Amino acid sequence: MTPDEPLVLGIETSCDETGVGIVRGSTLLVDAVASSVDEHARFGGVVPEVASRAHLEAMVPTIERACRESGVRLADLDAIAVTAGPGLAGALLVGVAAAKALAVGLGTPLYGVNHLASHVAVDVVEHGPLPEPCLALLVSGGHSSLLLVPDVTADVRPLGATIDDAAGEAFDKVARVLGLPFPGGPYIDRAAREGNQVAIDFPRGLTGGRDMERHRFDFSFSGLKTAVSRWVQLREQAGEPVPVADVAASFQEAVVDVLTRKAVAACRSEGVDDLLIGGGVAANSRLRALAQERCDDAGIRLRVPRPGLCTDNGAMVAALGAQMVARGMTASALDLPADSSMPVTLVRA
Ligand code: KG4
Ligand code: ZN
Repeated sequence: MTPDEPLVLGIETSCDETGVGIVRGSTLLVDAVASSVDEHARFGGVVPEVASRAHLEAMVPTIERACRESGVRLADLDAIAVTAGPGLAGALLVGVAAAKALAVGLGTPLYGVNHLASHVAVDVVEHGPLPEPCLALLVSGGHSSLLLVPDVTADVRPLGATIDDAAGEAFDKVARVLGLPFPGGPYIDRAAREGNQVAIDFPRGLTGGRDMERHRFDFSFSGLKTAVSRWVQLREQAGEPVPVADVAASFQEAVVDVLTRKAVAACRSEGVDDLLIGGGVAANSRLRALAQERCDDAGIRLRVPRPGLCTDNGAMVAALGAQMVARGMTASALDLPADSSMPVTLVRA
Protein backbone atom coordinates (compact mmCIF):
# COMPACT_ATOMS: atom_id res chain seq x y z
CA MET A 1 0.00 0.00 0.00
CA THR A 2 1.40 3.37 -0.98
CA PRO A 3 -0.07 6.70 0.15
CA ASP A 4 -0.55 7.85 -3.46
CA GLU A 5 -2.98 5.03 -4.19
CA PRO A 6 -6.58 6.25 -4.17
CA LEU A 7 -8.44 6.10 -0.86
CA VAL A 8 -12.02 5.19 -1.73
CA LEU A 9 -15.15 4.59 0.35
CA GLY A 10 -17.76 2.29 -1.22
CA ILE A 11 -21.45 2.06 -0.34
CA GLU A 12 -23.62 -0.96 -1.16
CA THR A 13 -27.39 -1.07 -0.59
CA SER A 14 -28.79 -3.07 -3.54
CA CYS A 15 -30.51 -5.71 -1.42
CA ASP A 16 -30.55 -6.38 2.34
CA GLU A 17 -26.97 -5.58 3.31
CA THR A 18 -25.90 -2.04 4.17
CA GLY A 19 -22.23 -2.26 3.26
CA VAL A 20 -19.56 0.39 3.74
CA GLY A 21 -16.01 -0.52 2.76
CA ILE A 22 -12.83 1.50 2.45
CA VAL A 23 -9.86 0.55 0.28
CA ARG A 24 -6.52 2.18 -0.44
CA GLY A 25 -5.74 1.06 -4.01
CA SER A 26 -6.21 -2.69 -3.78
CA THR A 27 -5.70 -2.90 -0.01
CA LEU A 28 -8.84 -3.45 2.04
CA LEU A 29 -8.88 -1.23 5.13
CA VAL A 30 -12.34 -2.03 6.46
CA ASP A 31 -15.49 -3.87 5.45
CA ALA A 32 -18.44 -2.85 7.65
CA VAL A 33 -21.73 -4.62 6.95
CA ALA A 34 -25.12 -4.27 8.67
CA SER A 35 -27.64 -6.84 7.48
CA SER A 36 -31.42 -6.69 7.73
CA VAL A 37 -31.71 -10.39 6.90
CA ASP A 38 -33.30 -11.26 10.24
CA GLU A 39 -36.14 -8.83 9.55
CA HIS A 40 -36.94 -10.65 6.28
CA ALA A 41 -36.56 -14.22 7.53
CA ARG A 42 -40.16 -14.64 8.68
CA PHE A 43 -41.38 -13.59 5.19
CA GLY A 44 -39.13 -16.14 3.47
CA GLY A 45 -37.64 -13.48 1.18
CA VAL A 46 -36.40 -9.90 1.13
CA VAL A 47 -39.22 -7.37 1.55
CA PRO A 48 -38.18 -4.26 -0.40
CA GLU A 49 -39.78 -1.64 1.90
CA VAL A 50 -38.32 -3.27 4.98
CA ALA A 51 -34.88 -3.33 3.34
CA SER A 52 -35.06 0.37 2.40
CA ARG A 53 -36.01 1.40 5.92
CA ALA A 54 -33.25 -0.72 7.40
CA HIS A 55 -30.71 0.91 5.05
CA LEU A 56 -31.88 4.34 6.18
CA GLU A 57 -31.36 3.42 9.82
CA ALA A 58 -28.04 1.66 9.30
CA MET A 59 -26.38 4.02 6.82
CA VAL A 60 -24.86 6.67 9.08
CA PRO A 61 -23.84 4.26 11.89
CA THR A 62 -22.19 1.95 9.34
CA ILE A 63 -20.24 4.81 7.74
CA GLU A 64 -19.14 5.91 11.22
CA ARG A 65 -18.10 2.36 12.12
CA ALA A 66 -16.08 1.99 8.92
CA CYS A 67 -14.20 5.22 9.66
CA ARG A 68 -13.67 4.36 13.30
CA GLU A 69 -12.36 0.86 12.62
CA SER A 70 -10.04 1.94 9.80
CA GLY A 71 -8.90 5.23 11.33
CA VAL A 72 -9.79 6.96 8.06
CA ARG A 73 -11.21 10.48 8.19
CA LEU A 74 -13.88 11.29 5.63
CA ALA A 75 -11.92 14.42 4.69
CA ASP A 76 -9.02 12.23 3.49
CA LEU A 77 -11.08 10.28 0.93
CA ASP A 78 -10.18 10.63 -2.75
CA ALA A 79 -13.52 9.35 -4.02
CA ILE A 80 -16.88 7.88 -3.08
CA ALA A 81 -18.20 4.85 -4.96
CA VAL A 82 -21.74 3.54 -4.74
CA THR A 83 -23.80 0.73 -6.21
CA ALA A 84 -25.99 2.44 -8.83
CA GLY A 85 -27.71 -0.84 -9.84
CA PRO A 86 -29.00 -3.41 -10.44
CA GLY A 87 -31.03 -4.13 -7.32
CA LEU A 88 -34.13 -3.09 -5.39
CA ALA A 89 -35.04 0.46 -6.47
CA GLY A 90 -35.83 1.87 -3.02
CA ALA A 91 -32.84 0.19 -1.42
CA LEU A 92 -30.46 1.48 -4.10
CA LEU A 93 -31.87 5.00 -3.68
CA VAL A 94 -30.80 5.14 -0.03
CA GLY A 95 -27.18 4.32 -0.89
CA VAL A 96 -27.07 6.60 -3.91
CA ALA A 97 -28.53 9.52 -1.91
CA ALA A 98 -26.04 8.96 0.92
CA ALA A 99 -23.13 8.78 -1.54
CA LYS A 100 -24.22 11.98 -3.28
CA ALA A 101 -24.51 13.78 0.06
CA LEU A 102 -21.00 12.66 1.03
CA ALA A 103 -19.53 13.57 -2.37
CA VAL A 104 -21.11 17.03 -2.35
CA GLY A 105 -20.26 17.67 1.28
CA LEU A 106 -16.65 16.57 0.93
CA GLY A 107 -16.12 17.87 -2.60
CA THR A 108 -14.91 14.45 -3.79
CA PRO A 109 -15.70 12.71 -7.09
CA LEU A 110 -18.54 10.18 -7.13
CA TYR A 111 -18.50 6.87 -9.01
CA GLY A 112 -21.80 5.05 -9.49
CA VAL A 113 -20.86 1.45 -10.24
CA ASN A 114 -22.48 -1.80 -11.31
CA HIS A 115 -23.16 -4.29 -8.52
CA LEU A 116 -22.30 -7.28 -10.71
CA ALA A 117 -18.95 -5.88 -11.85
CA SER A 118 -18.21 -5.13 -8.18
CA HIS A 119 -18.67 -8.82 -7.30
CA VAL A 120 -15.85 -9.51 -9.80
CA ALA A 121 -13.65 -6.53 -8.90
CA VAL A 122 -13.55 -7.33 -5.17
CA ASP A 123 -11.12 -10.18 -5.77
CA VAL A 124 -8.26 -7.68 -6.27
CA VAL A 125 -8.19 -7.05 -2.52
CA GLU A 126 -7.51 -10.73 -1.97
CA HIS A 127 -5.62 -12.04 -4.98
CA GLY A 128 -4.17 -8.94 -6.65
CA PRO A 129 -4.80 -7.44 -10.11
CA LEU A 130 -7.29 -9.27 -12.33
CA PRO A 131 -5.89 -11.06 -15.35
CA GLU A 132 -7.19 -9.35 -18.50
CA PRO A 133 -9.21 -10.96 -19.85
CA CYS A 134 -10.64 -13.31 -17.26
CA LEU A 135 -13.85 -15.27 -17.23
CA ALA A 136 -16.29 -14.66 -14.39
CA LEU A 137 -19.04 -16.89 -13.07
CA LEU A 138 -21.35 -14.63 -11.14
CA VAL A 139 -23.84 -16.44 -8.94
CA SER A 140 -26.01 -14.57 -6.47
CA GLY A 141 -29.57 -14.32 -5.23
CA GLY A 142 -30.57 -12.21 -8.21
CA HIS A 143 -28.17 -13.24 -10.97
CA SER A 144 -26.38 -16.17 -12.54
CA SER A 145 -24.13 -15.18 -15.41
CA LEU A 146 -21.04 -16.18 -17.29
CA LEU A 147 -19.09 -13.10 -18.26
CA LEU A 148 -16.04 -12.45 -20.38
CA VAL A 149 -14.21 -9.64 -18.61
CA PRO A 150 -11.51 -7.94 -20.69
CA ASP A 151 -11.53 -4.96 -18.28
CA VAL A 152 -13.70 -4.91 -15.15
CA THR A 153 -13.76 -1.09 -15.11
CA ALA A 154 -15.04 -0.71 -18.65
CA ASP A 155 -15.65 -3.87 -20.67
CA VAL A 156 -17.82 -6.73 -19.39
CA ARG A 157 -19.41 -9.05 -21.97
CA PRO A 158 -22.18 -11.54 -21.15
CA LEU A 159 -21.74 -15.04 -22.59
CA GLY A 160 -24.76 -16.54 -20.87
CA ALA A 161 -27.18 -16.15 -17.97
CA THR A 162 -30.04 -17.89 -16.25
CA ILE A 163 -33.22 -18.05 -18.28
CA ASP A 164 -35.37 -18.33 -15.14
CA ASP A 165 -34.30 -18.49 -11.45
CA ALA A 166 -30.92 -17.31 -10.23
CA ALA A 167 -28.76 -19.95 -8.53
CA GLY A 168 -29.15 -18.33 -5.10
CA GLU A 169 -32.90 -18.07 -5.60
CA ALA A 170 -33.00 -21.84 -6.24
CA PHE A 171 -31.04 -22.46 -3.01
CA ASP A 172 -33.46 -20.21 -1.10
CA LYS A 173 -36.59 -21.84 -2.57
CA VAL A 174 -35.37 -25.41 -2.05
CA ALA A 175 -34.40 -24.54 1.52
CA ARG A 176 -37.96 -23.44 2.12
CA VAL A 177 -39.28 -26.75 0.75
CA LEU A 178 -36.95 -28.54 3.19
CA GLY A 179 -38.06 -26.37 6.12
CA LEU A 180 -34.67 -24.66 6.42
CA PRO A 181 -34.41 -20.94 7.34
CA PHE A 182 -33.95 -17.99 4.95
CA PRO A 183 -31.59 -17.28 3.23
CA GLY A 184 -31.29 -20.95 2.42
CA GLY A 185 -27.88 -21.15 0.73
CA PRO A 186 -25.73 -21.46 3.86
CA TYR A 187 -28.22 -23.90 5.48
CA ILE A 188 -28.27 -26.17 2.43
CA ASP A 189 -24.48 -25.99 2.30
CA ARG A 190 -24.32 -27.12 5.93
CA ALA A 191 -27.03 -29.82 5.66
CA ALA A 192 -25.41 -31.21 2.50
CA ARG A 193 -22.20 -32.03 4.36
CA GLU A 194 -24.04 -34.84 6.15
CA GLY A 195 -25.76 -36.06 2.96
CA ASN A 196 -25.06 -38.18 -0.09
CA GLN A 197 -24.74 -36.12 -3.26
CA VAL A 198 -25.56 -39.07 -5.53
CA ALA A 199 -28.56 -40.24 -3.50
CA ILE A 200 -31.06 -38.62 -5.87
CA ASP A 201 -30.47 -37.96 -9.55
CA PHE A 202 -31.92 -34.45 -9.96
CA PRO A 203 -32.02 -32.87 -13.46
CA ARG A 204 -29.15 -30.76 -14.83
CA GLY A 205 -30.88 -27.86 -16.61
CA LEU A 206 -29.91 -26.89 -20.18
CA THR A 207 -27.25 -29.58 -20.59
CA GLY A 208 -29.00 -31.82 -23.15
CA GLY A 209 -27.99 -31.83 -26.82
CA ARG A 210 -30.75 -29.56 -28.13
CA ASP A 211 -30.48 -27.10 -25.24
CA MET A 212 -26.72 -26.94 -25.60
CA GLU A 213 -27.15 -25.71 -29.18
CA ARG A 214 -29.30 -22.74 -28.15
CA HIS A 215 -28.23 -22.23 -24.54
CA ARG A 216 -24.61 -23.35 -24.38
CA PHE A 217 -23.65 -20.93 -21.61
CA ASP A 218 -27.09 -20.26 -20.16
CA PHE A 219 -28.53 -21.76 -16.98
CA SER A 220 -31.98 -22.87 -15.82
CA PHE A 221 -32.79 -23.81 -12.24
CA SER A 222 -36.57 -23.66 -12.14
CA GLY A 223 -37.03 -27.25 -13.43
CA LEU A 224 -34.62 -28.47 -10.77
CA LYS A 225 -36.49 -26.59 -8.06
CA THR A 226 -39.78 -28.16 -9.22
CA ALA A 227 -38.18 -31.62 -9.34
CA VAL A 228 -36.98 -31.25 -5.73
CA SER A 229 -40.43 -30.02 -4.57
CA ARG A 230 -42.15 -32.94 -6.29
CA TRP A 231 -39.69 -35.47 -4.86
CA VAL A 232 -40.23 -34.14 -1.33
CA GLN A 233 -44.00 -34.01 -1.79
CA LEU A 234 -44.16 -37.65 -2.91
CA ARG A 235 -42.21 -38.73 0.17
CA GLU A 236 -44.49 -36.74 2.43
CA GLN A 237 -47.64 -38.12 0.77
CA ALA A 238 -46.28 -41.63 1.23
CA GLY A 239 -45.83 -40.82 4.92
CA GLU A 240 -42.09 -41.39 4.69
CA PRO A 241 -39.51 -39.13 6.34
CA VAL A 242 -37.70 -36.66 4.05
CA PRO A 243 -33.94 -37.27 4.09
CA VAL A 244 -33.08 -33.56 4.27
CA ALA A 245 -29.31 -33.99 4.09
CA ASP A 246 -29.48 -36.25 1.01
CA VAL A 247 -31.94 -33.95 -0.78
CA ALA A 248 -29.77 -30.91 0.05
CA ALA A 249 -26.59 -32.65 -1.12
CA SER A 250 -28.15 -34.00 -4.33
CA PHE A 251 -29.78 -30.65 -5.17
CA GLN A 252 -26.58 -28.75 -4.45
CA GLU A 253 -24.60 -31.17 -6.63
CA ALA A 254 -27.01 -30.62 -9.55
CA VAL A 255 -26.49 -26.85 -9.29
CA VAL A 256 -22.72 -26.80 -8.89
CA ASP A 257 -22.19 -29.53 -11.49
CA VAL A 258 -23.84 -27.39 -14.18
CA LEU A 259 -22.25 -24.13 -13.01
CA THR A 260 -18.70 -25.51 -13.03
CA ARG A 261 -19.12 -27.56 -16.20
CA LYS A 262 -20.34 -24.54 -18.18
CA ALA A 263 -17.77 -22.17 -16.65
CA VAL A 264 -14.88 -24.47 -17.64
CA ALA A 265 -16.39 -24.94 -21.12
CA ALA A 266 -16.67 -21.16 -21.51
CA CYS A 267 -13.01 -20.70 -20.52
CA ARG A 268 -12.02 -23.28 -23.13
CA SER A 269 -14.24 -21.78 -25.80
CA GLU A 270 -12.89 -18.24 -25.18
CA GLY A 271 -9.28 -19.40 -24.77
CA VAL A 272 -9.15 -17.87 -21.27
CA ASP A 273 -7.04 -19.50 -18.53
CA ASP A 274 -8.38 -17.59 -15.51
CA LEU A 275 -11.78 -18.18 -13.93
CA LEU A 276 -13.16 -16.03 -11.15
CA ILE A 277 -16.28 -16.95 -9.19
CA GLY A 278 -18.18 -14.23 -7.36
CA GLY A 279 -21.55 -13.47 -5.76
CA GLY A 280 -23.22 -14.93 -2.67
CA VAL A 281 -23.40 -18.51 -4.00
CA ALA A 282 -19.62 -18.46 -4.47
CA ALA A 283 -19.52 -18.85 -0.68
CA ASN A 284 -20.82 -22.43 -1.22
CA SER A 285 -18.24 -24.96 -0.06
CA ARG A 286 -19.11 -27.63 -2.64
CA LEU A 287 -19.06 -25.10 -5.51
CA ARG A 288 -15.61 -23.97 -4.42
CA ALA A 289 -14.31 -27.56 -4.14
CA LEU A 290 -15.73 -28.85 -7.43
CA ALA A 291 -14.63 -25.72 -9.30
CA GLN A 292 -11.10 -26.21 -7.98
CA GLU A 293 -11.11 -29.87 -9.04
CA ARG A 294 -12.37 -29.15 -12.55
CA CYS A 295 -10.11 -26.12 -13.06
CA ASP A 296 -7.09 -28.16 -11.98
CA ASP A 297 -8.02 -30.86 -14.51
CA ALA A 298 -8.46 -28.26 -17.26
CA GLY A 299 -5.32 -26.24 -16.47
CA ILE A 300 -7.38 -23.18 -15.50
CA ARG A 301 -6.36 -20.88 -12.65
CA LEU A 302 -9.27 -20.37 -10.23
CA ARG A 303 -9.86 -17.29 -8.06
CA VAL A 304 -12.66 -17.13 -5.50
CA PRO A 305 -12.78 -14.40 -2.85
CA ARG A 306 -13.18 -15.51 0.76
CA PRO A 307 -16.85 -16.21 1.62
CA GLY A 308 -17.34 -12.87 3.46
CA LEU A 309 -16.39 -10.99 0.30
CA CYS A 310 -18.66 -13.14 -1.93
CA THR A 311 -21.89 -12.00 -0.27
CA ASP A 312 -22.88 -8.34 -0.66
CA ASN A 313 -20.56 -5.82 0.97
CA GLY A 314 -19.21 -2.30 0.57
CA ALA A 315 -15.59 -3.35 0.01
CA MET A 316 -16.46 -4.66 -3.44
CA VAL A 317 -17.87 -1.28 -4.44
CA ALA A 318 -14.84 0.55 -3.04
CA ALA A 319 -12.54 -1.90 -4.85
CA LEU A 320 -14.16 -1.26 -8.23
CA GLY A 321 -14.26 2.50 -7.61
CA ALA A 322 -10.56 2.54 -6.70
CA GLN A 323 -9.68 0.72 -9.93
CA MET A 324 -11.62 3.35 -11.88
CA VAL A 325 -9.86 6.19 -10.07
CA ALA A 326 -6.46 4.53 -10.57
CA ARG A 327 -7.15 4.30 -14.31
CA GLY A 328 -8.02 8.00 -14.45
CA MET A 329 -11.63 7.43 -15.42
CA THR A 330 -13.93 10.40 -15.17
CA ALA A 331 -16.42 10.49 -12.29
CA SER A 332 -20.18 10.00 -12.65
CA ALA A 333 -22.52 12.98 -12.84
CA LEU A 334 -23.85 14.10 -9.46
CA ASP A 335 -27.41 13.50 -10.68
CA LEU A 336 -26.71 9.84 -11.44
CA PRO A 337 -29.84 7.72 -11.08
CA ALA A 338 -30.34 4.53 -9.10
CA ASP A 339 -31.00 2.05 -11.91
CA SER A 340 -32.75 -1.08 -10.65
CA SER A 341 -32.27 -2.89 -13.97
CA MET A 342 -28.79 -1.64 -14.83
CA PRO A 343 -27.42 -4.01 -17.51
CA VAL A 344 -24.25 -5.94 -16.72
CA THR A 345 -22.55 -4.33 -19.73
CA LEU A 346 -22.87 -0.88 -18.14
CA VAL A 347 -20.03 -0.96 -15.61
CA ARG A 348 -20.39 2.66 -14.52
CA ALA A 349 -23.37 5.02 -14.32
O1 KG4 B 1 -24.58 -11.75 -3.66
P1 KG4 B 1 -25.60 -11.89 -2.59
O2 KG4 B 1 -25.17 -11.65 -1.15
O3 KG4 B 1 -26.83 -10.96 -2.85
C1 KG4 B 1 -27.33 -10.74 -4.15
O4 KG4 B 1 -26.75 -9.89 -4.88
O5 KG4 B 1 -28.29 -11.47 -4.50
O6 KG4 B 1 -26.20 -13.38 -2.72
C2 KG4 B 1 -27.17 -13.87 -1.85
C3 KG4 B 1 -27.48 -15.30 -2.22
C4 KG4 B 1 -28.64 -15.91 -1.44
O7 KG4 B 1 -29.52 -16.53 -2.36
C5 KG4 B 1 -27.97 -16.93 -0.53
O8 KG4 B 1 -28.79 -18.05 -0.23
C6 KG4 B 1 -26.78 -17.34 -1.37
O9 KG4 B 1 -26.33 -16.14 -1.95
N1 KG4 B 1 -25.71 -17.94 -0.56
C7 KG4 B 1 -25.33 -19.22 -0.69
C8 KG4 B 1 -24.34 -19.47 0.31
N2 KG4 B 1 -24.16 -18.30 1.02
C9 KG4 B 1 -25.01 -17.38 0.46
N3 KG4 B 1 -25.73 -20.18 -1.54
C10 KG4 B 1 -25.17 -21.40 -1.42
N4 KG4 B 1 -24.23 -21.71 -0.48
C11 KG4 B 1 -23.79 -20.77 0.39
N5 KG4 B 1 -22.88 -21.09 1.31
ZN1 ZN C 1 -24.77 -9.39 -4.88
